[in-house]
Amino acid sequence: MSATGPIDQNPTAPHPGASEDPDSRVIPRFAPVPEGRAKKRYVIVGTGHRSGMYVDALIHAQAEVGEIVAWVDPNNTRIGYYDDLVREELGLAAGLPRYTPEDLERAITENRADAVVITSPDLWHAGLASRALATGVNVIVEKPLTTTALGCRSIADAVGEYGGDVLMTFNYRYAPRNSTLREVIRSGAIGEITSVHFEWALDTVHGADYFRRWHRERENSGTLLIHKAAHHFDLVNWWIADSPVRVFASAGLRFYGDENARRRGMGERPERGTGAEGDPFSLDLHSDPRLEALYLNAEHEDGYRRDQDPFAPGVTIYDNMSVLVDYSRGATMSYSLNAHSPWEGYRVTVNGTEGRAELEVVERGAVLLDTEGNAVLDPSATPVDQQADQVRPERDRLVVQRHWQPAHEVEIPAGIGGHGGGDQIMLMDVFRADLRLEEDPLGRAADWVDGVRAVAVGIAANESIATGNAVTIADLDLGVELG
Ligand SMILES: NC(=O)c1ccc[n+]([C@@H]2O[C@H](COP(=O)([O-])OP(=O)(O)OC[C@H]3O[C@@H](n4cnc5c(N)ncnc54)[C@H](O)[C@@H]3O)[C@@H](O)[C@H]2O)c1
Repeated sequence: MSATGPIDQNPTAPHPGASEDPDSRVIPRFAPVPEGRAKKRYVIVGTGHRSGMYVDALIHAQAEVGEIVAWVDPNNTRIGYYDDLVREELGLAAGLPRYTPEDLERAITENRADAVVITSPDLWHAGLASRALATGVNVIVEKPLTTTALGCRSIADAVGEYGGDVLMTFNYRYAPRNSTLREVIRSGAIGEITSVHFEWALDTVHGADYFRRWHRERENSGTLLIHKAAHHFDLVNWWIADSPVRVFASAGLRFYGDENARRRGMGERPERGTGAEGDPFSLDLHSDPRLEALYLNAEHEDGYRRDQDPFAPGVTIYDNMSVLVDYSRGATMSYSLNAHSPWEGYRVTVNGTEGRAELEVVERGAVLLDTEGNAVLDPSATPVDQQADQVRPERDRLVVQRHWQPAHEVEIPAGIGGHGGGDQIMLMDVFRADLRLEEDPLGRAADWVDGVRAVAVGIAANESIATGNAVTIADLDLGVELG
């Protein structure tokens, strides 16, 4: 495993090539670690796929500033996977202490932790963060901050009562293409922002993955309007430096789920992906050693299946979502999210009083099938793919046009590693914030209020879909004034 290795990537997500030569414009500079300074002590809470990125950072690139002191997860097999890895990499004589979530407080106090890293399923984030704050430690929490208004209030109450920092890891902000759009808007090149049009397409492999896992139940993920779109709503809040005030949304489950499969005459479906052959919607957990170790080999403990059929009964989230958002200074956004597109990526248009900026990103141009009918995830795998690439090559392109002037392309600096080059840059900021040499002119680090601001749109959108009415965010009682 390396600092830029595939451990931070969901195997179903597009895998952009890692850049060899990161650009200093998007990589922060840090002071050397003062000699003799003690390492910060972290408890990892939730040892599934995403925790791998933090584990990797704390045993490699960030090992001189931080260390893992304990694990918390209800599944001991998943803890064991990372514990073995850390023990081997660091040459430890014994593994690290293991706890179940009920014993979070003990995990923190017995191991004299400074902070927790929360990478559990979304529905537990708020409770775990609030409990950790009550013990006096800081919190690093994956997106989304929470899935409910109650969760927002509980974090607001805990911060108010106990203090402590809550760092939201909005890695998309750190992807150089997204940082560059922020820079363009901040520079005033397109004037005052009047509206945003934002379209996100998830393909039939990565999009389908949300319908295989715990995310398929809204109780766990808050629907993709919270689980996935929290990233996107945060980007817009940050790009235009404004807060959402009113939301109207419409959505449906029109592709995945058992009723849609029946309506389209899809016939008998495999019970699970593992072992199914020639079905492009199936994920075989044997196909990736990490998937097998973390999920297939851990099923006997909690019965959780990572490879459910996206067309099996029980889906309570949407796959087609449209949202209209009003912002406090008068801009509006039209947003759409589709989870069964033939290609993956996004398009953003930002209109201003002096011009317009357009960001277009193709993360995977096509998902094609091999001769057995299985989805091919490596885009360079077949000659057919190369042909498809000519029409929709993997790329990102930012075009800015001021009134009365021709359009020009703005160069996007190179980042490091996956997620559009954002993850590794973010990790430097997460673990070395106090050593930063300059303040970040882009303000990429996010806190819990940014987390509330992002999920506020999704919480309001879910309510709007349920009631058919526009929802005013101030009426949601989220425990904090969003400004
Ligand atoms: N920023 C990103 O790009 C990104 C990418 C992937 C995941 N994530 C986020 O990371 C989080 C974890 O996602 P994942 O894909 O690793 O899921 P996962 O299912 O692979 O892992 C979740 C882990 O949490 C454990 N868990 C269950 N209940 C728990 C509890 N009450 N307390 C502590 N642990 C508990 C599970 O046993 C499992 O090991 C999610 O909130 C997700 O939104 C963010």
